[in-house]
Parts: sequence; structure tokens; C-alpha cells
Amino acid sequence: MSRIVYVNGDYLDEADAKVSVFDRGFLMADGVYEVTSVLDGKLIAFDGHIERLGRSLSELDMASPVAMDELLGIHRELVDRNDLIDGLVYLQVTRGAPADRDFEFPDPEETPSTLVLFTQSKPGLADNPQAKKGIKIISIDDIRWGRRDIKTVQLLYPSMGKMMAKKAGADDAWLVEDGQVTEGTSNNAYIVKGNRIITRQLSNDILHGITRAAVLRYAREAQMEVEERAFTIAEAQGADEAFVTSASAFLMPVVEIDGAVLGDGKPGPVATRLREIYIEESRKTAI
Ligand code: PDD
Repeated sequence: MSRIVYVNGDYLDEADAKVSVFDRGFLMADGVYEVTSVLDGKLIAFDGHIERLGRSLSELDMASPVAMDELLGIHRELVDRNDLIDGLVYLQVTRGAPADRDFEFPDPEETPSTLVLFTQSKPGLADNPQAKKGIKIISIDDIRWGRRDIKTVQLLYPSMGKMMAKKAGADDAWLVEDGQVTEGTSNNAYIVKGNRIITRQLSNDILHGITRAAVLRYAREAQMEVEERAFTIAEAQGADEAFVTSASAFLMPVVEIDGAVLGDGKPGPVATRLREIYIEESRKTAI
């Protein structure tokens, strides 16, 4: 089925939606993005995603193409027009399409930024059968740039990491820098020891996950301990449980790391419980 997508103010059939070959998102990966999940036709953690988008834009001196408070209406319109029940809304802003390729940023007065949104339908998103089995992780070097807190569209290395994982018979990769895990290719990484959840502290080294913030809040409310610090692969392999979080996967248990099976090889009770809480609370607060 053909989708309706949003491009710079217009809602178009996906076959008719076009962006210039001079767009800096295309030529320079000069763009930022957000992914907001949708359950029962409602947006999950929308305010958090828009706040982070604002931060990504301002860190890169990029103008928002529309007033930030118009973005909710655009998201909702797109969900409606595509009859989206469960799935995602992808949003991307780039520094626009100047008249020619140039390393220097164009004058924003002359080159408006580009705004594109589209939906991805994922029926049964909250009932992903993988969550019952858990995923296998390999570790790879983190060779990304130093501003991973900005959600840019420079996703080549994360894509390569996923391919390395698939080739190794695993599902995803955790990135390791100076001997310590930063995060997953497209998610934040956690280990569990007893009642304690350990995840890397916020800095420029990782994306400040919107799902991370919610899951840590729910964990604290459920009387679990939260420790925000870095950990090694060896520590993770010896942990009781592990998991990852992202807007699209919610909370996904990890059952194997570099060939070492965690516990009995099944999703543990803490990850399973937190996933349930996260989905339940997200449905309640969706807009
Ligand atoms: N990825 N870390 C990285 C590197 C990510 O790309 C993502 C999200 C996260 C989790 O952030 P959040 O909870 O706000 O989704 C952490 C999105 C889902 C993607 O690229 O599709």
C-alpha cells in the first residue's frame, strides 16, 4: 500500500515526494532525525522526542523549518492519513538544498531547511515475539564521532555494525570504547545485577535515549536501584540479565553477549517486568 509522506509543507503520495540532489542531508549527512513510536494510533513520549530534536538542531546551528509546536499536528495528520495503528513516525530535518555542493553552511535566509516525515507500519509492535526469546549481541569497536548525543543521520557505522552482527549469527552489536560499552548500534545498553540496573551515564558519548529516561524512571518507581556508570563486556557477560532500549524496540532483553549465555539463556525477570511496565505506562501517556 502506498504511503502519504510529508515533504516541506505538503502531504504527498510517496511516489511523488522528492528532495533535491543538492540537499545537504544527501550530500553531507547534514541532518538530524527522530523516531517516535505509535501504539493504538497515539504517539509515545512525543514531548521528549521534540525536545531532543530542538537540542540536536541548536547544537548544529540548524534552523527548524516549522515552529516546534506545529510538529504535533503534522505527526497526527500523517498518522491519520496513513491509518497508522502501530508503528513509527520518522522525522528528518536537513540543512536544506543550496544551489551547489559546498562544505560551508548555506545562509539559512536563502536556504530553508528540509523537513521530511513518513510513517512505518508495524502491526503488533508491542507484541514483538523476539521479546520472549531475547537477542544475541556481539561487541565491536566504537569508531563513531565524538557527538553521539546529537541524533544525526550519519548512520553508516551503526548499519555496518548491524551487518557484522548478522554475519556473526547475532542480532545486534554493542559498541566498545576504551574497554567500556557506550551503547548499541541504535539503542541504549543495560546490565542487571540482582535488583540493580546499570547503564552508562549521559555524556557526549551516547545518545540520550528518550526510552532510557522513561525506563530508568519506572525502574526507580518500582524500587529497583539504578547505577549510571560504564561497564565492560566481561562485566556484562557475568551479569544476571541485560537489555537494550529504543523508541522502536521499547525494551528488548539480551540473552547472549559475544557467545556467553546470560543466566539460563532466557529473558530475565527484571527485563521482562520493566518491558511490561514501559508498554503499559506508554499506552497510558500516549497522545
Ligand atoms: N535509534 N542510541 C542510539 C545510537 C540510537 O540510534 C537510539 C535510537 C537510541 C535510543 O534512543 P530512543 O530511546 O530515544 O529511541 C540510543 C532510533 C530508534 C533509530 O535510529 O531508529
